[in-house]
Amino acid sequence: MIDIRNITKSFENGPILENVSLNIKKGETIVIIGGSGCGKSTLLRCINRLITPEKGEIYIDGENILDPNIDIDKVRRKMGMVYQHFNLFSHLNILENIILAPVEVNKMNREDAIAEAKQLLNRVGLSGKEYQMPSQLSGGQKQRVAIARTLAMHPEVILFDEPTSALDPTMVDEVENVIKDLVDEGMTSVIVTHEMRFARNVGSRVIFLANRHIYEEGTPNEIFDHPQKPLTQRFLYRSRMFEKELLKESLDLYSLSSEMKKFLSGYQYSNEQLKLISIIDDELLYPLFNHPEGVENATIRLLCSDNSTSHMMQIYLPSIKSDPLKEPYLDELNINILEHFSHFVFSKPTENGYIVNIQM
Ligand SMILES: Nc1ncnc2c1ncn2[C@@H]1O[C@H](COP(=O)(O)OP(=O)(O)OP(=O)(O)O)[C@@H](O)[C@H]1O
Ligand SMILES: [Mg+2]
Repeated sequence: MIDIRNITKSFENGPILENVSLNIKKGETIVIIGGSGCGKSTLLRCINRLITPEKGEIYIDGENILDPNIDIDKVRRKMGMVYQHFNLFSHLNILENIILAPVEVNKMNREDAIAEAKQLLNRVGLSGKEYQMPSQLSGGQKQRVAIARTLAMHPEVILFDEPTSALDPTMVDEVENVIKDLVDEGMTSVIVTHEMRFARNVGSRVIFLANRHIYEEGTPNEIFDHPQKPLTQRFLYRSRMFEKELLKESLDLYSLSSEMKKFLSGYQYSNEQLKLISIIDDELLYPLFNHPEGVENATIRLLCSDNSTSHMMQIYLPSIKSDPLKEPYLDELNINILEHFSHFVFSKPTENGYIVNIQM
């Protein structure tokens, strides 16, 4: 339905998007995530040509919307846009806000437009608010009105640019639920969001933008549970990572394990995982640090995921010469215990040492 081919968009400071291609099918929900300033809004605005890329093509239902001869208003009518700031007309009541475009632009009969607006308000849970002014509504309610107003134009696709990021946290859910319902009913959507739980919950495909292009994409499960590339991993784990440098001369495994347990307690966890933290101390770190040819320093990371009890431990061992999960560092009993209590454990050589990964 939307076919973006090799678009490039630059501002004064150089390219923001370079050779971005993305195909969106009818009924899909694309979620766009990425760091601040990476071009998420720019990409969204290219789709309805609020911004014109200098290179590439964007086909909507087979028409290249970058063609200067195209009737862009007709194309835009197929697309609704919901912004962070709701952009309601403050001098018009809720009903007037919703019927304005259907009546003025689509030349819809006023009575029909009002009847439909009432249905839409019901759909977003705001029956009875038609004659209130925007200033009388909460942020979450205003955003639901903005969604109803968009729906009143019968768009084929809705573009959402951070629809919940201007809201008080208590109002995020009500707006997310409305969007989720639309998506479940089959509305084609492109959603830029910083809410990772929502992204996982609502998206059929997740796009991670970085380095001016689609750096990694996949299903929510692939991106959130098994990101493959370093920038995606860093972005997703940034706020959910415990990291500590360990030095042999000042090593205190007891306090390390209580710090890690405390960190884990902010997430969903099982008693087995708590136990595994102590086991990693006793069966892995202790032997590694106490072996005569063992490690002098290491970095330990605990990477927690928001929506599951699946967490990951990574231990970087920069100076170790041979596989840390084998003799002479660990004996068979150490390994058996580690394997028994974790989902999997494996080591990988790096440039100057090894890394041990433990899926908890
Ligand atoms: N109209 C413009 N003129 C000049 N520079 C712009 C313009 N619009 C965006 N930029 C720049 O392009 C870059 C990408 O902006 P964009 O708004 O697309 O990022 P974003 O990923 O949506 O960020 P955020 O998460 O903060 O909303 C930024 O560095 C921004 O300063
Ligand atoms: Mg933005």
